[in-house]
Amino acid sequence: MKKTKIAPVKGKLGVLIPGLCGAISTTLIGGVEAVKAGEGKPIGSLTQMGRIRLGKRTENKNPMIKDFVPLADLDSLVFGGWDIFDENLYKSALKAGVLERTQIESLKEKFSAIRPMKAAFDRKYVKNITGPNVKKGRTKYDLALQLVEDIKAFKKANGLDRAVMVWCASTETYIPPNDVHTTIAKFEAGMKKNHPAISPSTLYAWAAIKCGVPFINGAPNLSCNIPALVDLAKKSGVPVAGSDYKTGQTLMKTIIAPGLKARALGINGWFSTNILGNRDGEVLDDPESFKTKEVSKLSVLDSILKPETYPDLYKDLYHKVTINYYPPRGDNKEGWDNIDLFGWLGYPMQLKVDFLCRDSILAAPLALDLVLFMDLAKRAGMGGTQEWLSFFFKSPMHAPEVYAENDLFVQLEKFENNLRHLMGENLITHLGVEYYK
Ligand SMILES: NC(=O)c1ccc[n+]([C@@H]2O[C@H](COP(=O)([O-])OP(=O)(O)OC[C@H]3O[C@@H](n4cnc5c(N)ncnc54)[C@H](O)[C@@H]3O)[C@@H](O)[C@H]2O)c1
Repeated sequence: MKKTKIAPVKGKLGVLIPGLCGAISTTLIGGVEAVKAGEGKPIGSLTQMGRIRLGKRTENKNPMIKDFVPLADLDSLVFGGWDIFDENLYKSALKAGVLERTQIESLKEKFSAIRPMKAAFDRKYVKNITGPNVKKGRTKYDLALQLVEDIKAFKKANGLDRAVMVWCASTETYIPPNDVHTTIAKFEAGMKKNHPAISPSTLYAWAAIKCGVPFINGAPNLSCNIPALVDLAKKSGVPVAGSDYKTGQTLMKTIIAPGLKARALGINGWFSTNILGNRDGEVLDDPESFKTKEVSKLSVLDSILKPETYPDLYKDLYHKVTINYYPPRGDNKEGWDNIDLFGWLGYPMQLKVDFLCRDSILAAPLALDLVLFMDLAKRAGMGGTQEWLSFFFKSPMHAPEVYAENDLFVQLEKFENNLRHLMGENLITHLGVEYYK
């Protein structure tokens, strides 16, 4: 197989984050600093801890992913971004309450020097929070142009070779697909006319693509996931990927559902509920932002279980997801699942999952991996939707003619085979007949 030409890693890589003062951002940046200082291990990060099998099982070849594909290293990352709060990262990390206070104190000097740029923000799209650090502009187009200037200035001020933008800002209210999203001409005209179906997250995505900066959508907002921006990204050779980090309950769901289906066990009910007390929980307490999250969370089971193909097993599946804002738990989410399943002759059974997780501890390594893989994709000339990264998302972007692949194990195989393909290695099919000849 032929190896893809990949531009070498050189210089510094900017990591531009809308939502810089939030829980995921501060956990990501604090975590990278802690790892660099040898104060912790990057657990949960495939780029830092993961290995990939190459060749036959008899060869026992399992290099680290970061030694197999050319990725930027942690020392080359420069973090910056935007937020509606005008607070430095030190204060923001204390407020987010994810990292231990002693860990944050050790980062005080570095964190105090990082402040967010003014955000492109509109309360119409995120109802439960407000802040002073917000751009002014007559039209959405004006705001988007200001973002373009921010990106250019950040690259220049930090002497960056490249940059990636990763959305870690709040979940916006639900916006159904609209004609203004269909072509770049309509979208740009819509920005100039302040079209209501154009939210701030789409402005950031447009600005990133215009600057040749790969864009990652960590929330379920439309953002880069509209035909106009996918098309622009493809034509401009800029990778885009999303949507919504697959972290706690949905991660478990996409592990368990493929397992039950693999054994042809039926399911007629899947009830999922969560308590969450961080700012994300507060934003999601608004029904319009929750609707965006709900659509993302509900989408996974149908594409894994395929009730239309397996009516005897899944046609009556009732799937319910709720999130309850409960401040005492902060970022430490608890997610419960009750699964009503049935086996031989229809005899009923139940499965209960209680996941006491830490939302941002699970999300930060995904954000890091996505930044490094999207930078790789850009250097490898891969523009447009990066479906091979669906492994990291609750609601993966995909080509219009195919359904989303949500099964974590299929996603992993797709991801690994894409890396092998990129590096000219044989793909692994797990056929294994050669061992029995
Ligand atoms: N933590 C997880 O496990 C997880 C999983 C999947 C998705 N997400 C999503 O990731 C996002 C970030 O999560 P979090 O827990 O860090 O939330 P958070 O509320 O702690 O941080 C979000 C930050 O975004 C800022 N913000 C809002 N609108 C903005 C805008 N237009 N421009 C710039 N900044 C803006 C807010 O002021 C806030 O500081 C949320 O949308 C969340 O739903 C989180």
